Amino acid sequence: MNRRHFLASVFATSIMPRPIFAAENTLRLRAEAVLQQVLPLGDGATAMLGFNGSMPGPELRVRRGERVNIDVENGLDEGTAVHWHGIRLENPMDGVPMLTQDLINPAETKTYSFIPPDEGTYWYHSHYISYEQVARGLMGPLIVEDDTPPDVDHDITVLLSDWQMHEDGTLSDNFADMHSVAHGGYLGNFARAFLSKDRVRAGDRVRFRLINAATNRIFPITITGGSGSLVALDGMALPAPRPMADLVLAPAQRADLILDITGPVGFDMLTRQGPYRLADLGVSGTNATRPTSPIMALSPPNLPVPAEPSQHLTLTMMGGAMGGQHGGDNIWAFNNISDLPTDPFGSFQIGETARITFVNDTSFPHGIHLHGHHFYEVDQDGNLGDLRDTTLVNPTESRDIICVFDNPGRWLLHCHMLSHAVGGMRTWVNVG
Ligand code: C2O
Ligand code: CU
Repeated sequence: MNRRHFLASVFATSIMPRPIFAAENTLRLRAEAVLQQVLPLGDGATAMLGFNGSMPGPELRVRRGERVNIDVENGLDEGTAVHWHGIRLENPMDGVPMLTQDLINPAETKTYSFIPPDEGTYWYHSHYISYEQVARGLMGPLIVEDDTPPDVDHDITVLLSDWQMHEDGTLSDNFADMHSVAHGGYLGNFARAFLSKDRVRAGDRVRFRLINAATNRIFPITITGGSGSLVALDGMALPAPRPMADLVLAPAQRADLILDITGPVGFDMLTRQGPYRLADLGVSGTNATRPTSPIMALSPPNLPVPAEPSQHLTLTMMGGAMGGQHGGDNIWAFNNISDLPTDPFGSFQIGETARITFVNDTSFPHGIHLHGHHFYEVDQDGNLGDLRDTTLVNPTESRDIICVFDNPGRWLLHCHMLSHAVGGMRTWVNVG
């Protein structure tokens, strides 16, 4: 991080646009050029891409089990497509050009229609030249509201990202710079969080929905001014609330926290040079009427129960800087193959349980995302651990997952460091 690192903590919280509720109408998102104040007020505004005039795009709030129709209008001068990250939806609505749909061309509109099966914190983002379109701002929060919400005073979305900025607020356009693709990817020199509310009271109990919308940055997060628990990861409720120490979010990962506010709230990213302020949440007034009560688990997810795995596959991440040789013809590869192969990495019967070992044979961490499903991380004792749609695998480590492939279709499996994805770390699975 350059000197922006030291300027970051002075900005006031900037608020995301008002959420759009599915109950009101068919939702509409228009992808278009926007001018957004990303740097602290007083510094230049940034020409970016966004939805409905803002970056991040508006928070969409939809109901579990109810069909939602979202008209995506392309107001850009290039194609686009929107992926509803983490939603276990029908394959043709997954938003992946070449695999599940044709591009939405300029001036065209595509209606995405799906029934979200799970409550929780999700997000949407461009899935076309995404290393660039997401870095330019084509993303926003997608919340599937709880049938029975937890007892909190506020529900606040905290969307994190980073950008490579020039001093005047213009965005650097080095999105596909080969050096960064071979290393940690396009990383910003300025990071911040956008909040959906700017004020709470001391004594309030608040649900925070953290979303890492950055293209490549892993955020280690600390939060001051509140105490409480982690209650969900990647949209899925934990069986029991968990202490929130060492919260690390890889690109695309989400975490839901419930915190009791004790003072001004600060969100910091931990860096080698110390904490870097991402956002402040002001506190005024006191909530004197909230009784102290334990933080309860959210309603449990309703996912298929894994059977004894009938296949065990291995996906080895290869390549990049300081990596070994591999057989692929791009910078990165899975199992010696770069980019989307003709044949799927895995083929599964509908409902089949499989075990996959992700081996990281590179010098960089990778956040591996499977479309259309959630999977269990297998913990150190070999037990089913957290349910995720994106799992972070550090260099020289490996991680086993267990997944019930119950959603028919062609599903992408890729590194969500979007520079690594364009650098070759993409494959797919076939279900059905
Ligand atoms: Cu969040 Cu393939 O994407
Ligand atoms: Cu990667």
